[in-house]
Amino acid sequence: MRFSGRLGPRTGQNALSSLAARLLAEGRPLINISDSNPTRHGLRPEGVLSALSGGGALEYRPDPRGLLSARLALAERFGGEPSSYFLSASTSEAYSWLFKLLCDPGDAVLVPRPGYPLFDSLAGLEAVRAVPYGLEYAHPAGWSIDLGSLRAAATSSGAKAVVVINPNNPTGSYASSSEREAIVSLCAELGMALVADEVFYPYAIESGPGRSRLAGEARCLCFSLDGLSKLLCLPQMKLGWIRVSGPAPEAAEAASRLEHIADAFLSAGAPAMNALPALLGRAEPFVETVLARLSANLDAARAAFDGAGSPYRILRCDGGWTALLEYPRAAAEEATALGLLRDEGVFAQPGYFFDMERDGYLALSLILEPDLFSEAIGRIRRYIDSSLA
Ligand SMILES: Cc1ncc(COP(=O)(O)O)c(C=O)c1O
Repeated sequence: MRFSGRLGPRTGQNALSSLAARLLAEGRPLINISDSNPTRHGLRPEGVLSALSGGGALEYRPDPRGLLSARLALAERFGGEPSSYFLSASTSEAYSWLFKLLCDPGDAVLVPRPGYPLFDSLAGLEAVRAVPYGLEYAHPAGWSIDLGSLRAAATSSGAKAVVVINPNNPTGSYASSSEREAIVSLCAELGMALVADEVFYPYAIESGPGRSRLAGEARCLCFSLDGLSKLLCLPQMKLGWIRVSGPAPEAAEAASRLEHIADAFLSAGAPAMNALPALLGRAEPFVETVLARLSANLDAARAAFDGAGSPYRILRCDGGWTALLEYPRAAAEEATALGLLRDEGVFAQPGYFFDMERDGYLALSLILEPDLFSEAIGRIRRYIDSSLA
């Protein structure tokens, strides 16, 4: 049997996941400090099940763009016309629709580096190349997009789209207004589409006031992505959406083509779409609750690692659910992550998972229960301190 090459070489579990599986099989309790599954950390809005059982949940009225009542609620909350929204099962699925819409096999899309590895595999599954553009870090100012590397990557690859994660995962950086201007004009100049992933947008922790949503950008063809998985900590609901915007004839053509793709799958579930207006109504106070947790954990991480003369530092964290810890390097990053898991029972994703430029970083998920988070960072500090001694 010959399989498609879309999956790339199958290398099985990495060393860290294999060790975690072995320790769990032995009955060792582990703390996953990189866990981004909110359902495991007591974050859930009120009234989800009653919203799901509302009238109409069991009716089937297929519409490639998704239930009109759900799209009306999105338009009311986020702007634009209901017809500019497309509902999907998740933002991950929305990416796959956009790659189908924009790319032929072998075409390129630009993705941020450091970045979340999901986008490389989603691109690969559509036989599309994910070509990186760089983000740079300066302390304490924070991250910025290397616009030179973005232009170079766009022109050398002939990319069809640029993916901007606003704020990016794991760097937590929002696109600044000058970056936004540069990216939009590059897209207009080169005929690239802008894919703006704004799933973490409401979670601004250390960001100043200058950020803005890219959703609804009218000067280039723009697809913005969002969903319930981060907005309401409901990844199990499987509901995401795309908003299409841009210059009139092009955006209309894109939407009508996207409708064909969505029609082939009709993947958003009726109960979740039907519940969306009620769920969106709960977003405001719920986001505040999550933000309070993120801020408390970030404060705890800063108290544990930052400070005059500390060999550690927490990178600036404008938004999102992840903080990056930079630690003094006594060993290669993988050896540190394996030792931390083996000796202290803490599973932490090392920076190379996200293509950080060099060794010496761990990703800390800020959504953990504060007691668990504090316990984990205490163990990390103890392990790395002792490996330096
Ligand atoms: C930036 C970003 N976008 C999208 C996703 C996937 O979200 P969904 O659950 O809607 O597929 C993730 C997952 O963590 C993410 O980090």
